[in-house]
Amino acid sequence: MSILVAGGAGYIGSVVVEQLIEEGRDVVVLDNLSRGHRSAANPKATFVHGDCGDMDLLSQTIALHGIKSVMHFCALSLVGESVEAPASYYRNNISQSVALVEACLNAGIRNFIFSSTAAVYGEPESVPITEDSKTQPTNPYGRTKLFFEYFLRDCDAAYGLKSVCLRYFNAAGASKEYGEDHSPETHLIPLVLDAAVGKRESISIFGHDYDTPDGSCIRDYIHVLDLADAHLLALQRLEKGGASDYFNLGNGNGYSVREVIECARKITGLEIKSEETGRRPGDPARLVASADKARNVLGWKPRFPELEKIIQDAWDWRQKNPDGYAD
Ligand code: UFG
Repeated sequence: MSILVAGGAGYIGSVVVEQLIEEGRDVVVLDNLSRGHRSAANPKATFVHGDCGDMDLLSQTIALHGIKSVMHFCALSLVGESVEAPASYYRNNISQSVALVEACLNAGIRNFIFSSTAAVYGEPESVPITEDSKTQPTNPYGRTKLFFEYFLRDCDAAYGLKSVCLRYFNAAGASKEYGEDHSPETHLIPLVLDAAVGKRESISIFGHDYDTPDGSCIRDYIHVLDLADAHLLALQRLEKGGASDYFNLGNGNGYSVREVIECARKITGLEIKSEETGRRPGDPARLVASADKARNVLGWKPRFPELEKIIQDAWDWRQKNPDGYAD
């Protein structure tokens, strides 16, 4: 039974593909390489170059490879960019994604796993954030993800499409082969490592007067390998006939921006200059997950919850791939 991984040449998708292949699954990666990298597409997977909204290509691919389940990672995912260019976000994250689901439905596929985000919650009323917390996204990116979750629920009611939506908190770290290489890069840990190796002068600390112990924002960093584990568990759940559901994926531990920088200094042994700058618009002070539901229902247990291990693995990958992926 083959699995189609749409967006399988991106950061999280490539690590999930690696684990699916280690499990002995047949994988087809579909990616338009607008944000992903050809060399992040696993050589043991079949690679199809194209858009996830190209229904003809999807129908052919699904039929040719006997696809039974789909994982959907294709998305634009930068909060700031989504505020400046919402049309691209609604086109990519909604229109194209709806076409992908329609192609699945036409082909009789009933198992669908969706990369969602903690951004669906917006500014939380309290932490840790459970799945019952209010969803009130504060930017177009979060709204597109939430609308698509609603769409998937409607598709279950109308067509019996079973889906699992996985709401990632702050994905970080790397596997041995696959890591984080975004262009432009906006995420804290890769930027801190850029500052460590002198690719940038310093790391900016966005805001120093938040209501947190050291004044900088707190986030729940989750190892990309642990995220990948959750996808495999979600797939098994659907393959066994489980119901549609949605889950937070985080460690339940928050670390401040300053703690991340300090940890990176220890791991790299390098000086990392930092400077306090103003707040980044739209940043909530604290985002920390309660992932009890994923633990209890999926049986998920993060293997690498320590920040040190997350940053160590990101650093190891960076040292092996100083300029990221070749392409
Ligand atoms: N930060 C800095 N300096 C930087 C970059 C980031 O201080 O140069 C801070 C941010 O203000 C934030 C923290 O580091 O407090 C983490 O920022 P990231 O940009 O790495 O991640 P975000 O928390 O903004 O967003 C990420 C994903 C979103 C997802 C969210 C869920 O990019 O898609 O996590 O928690 F929705």
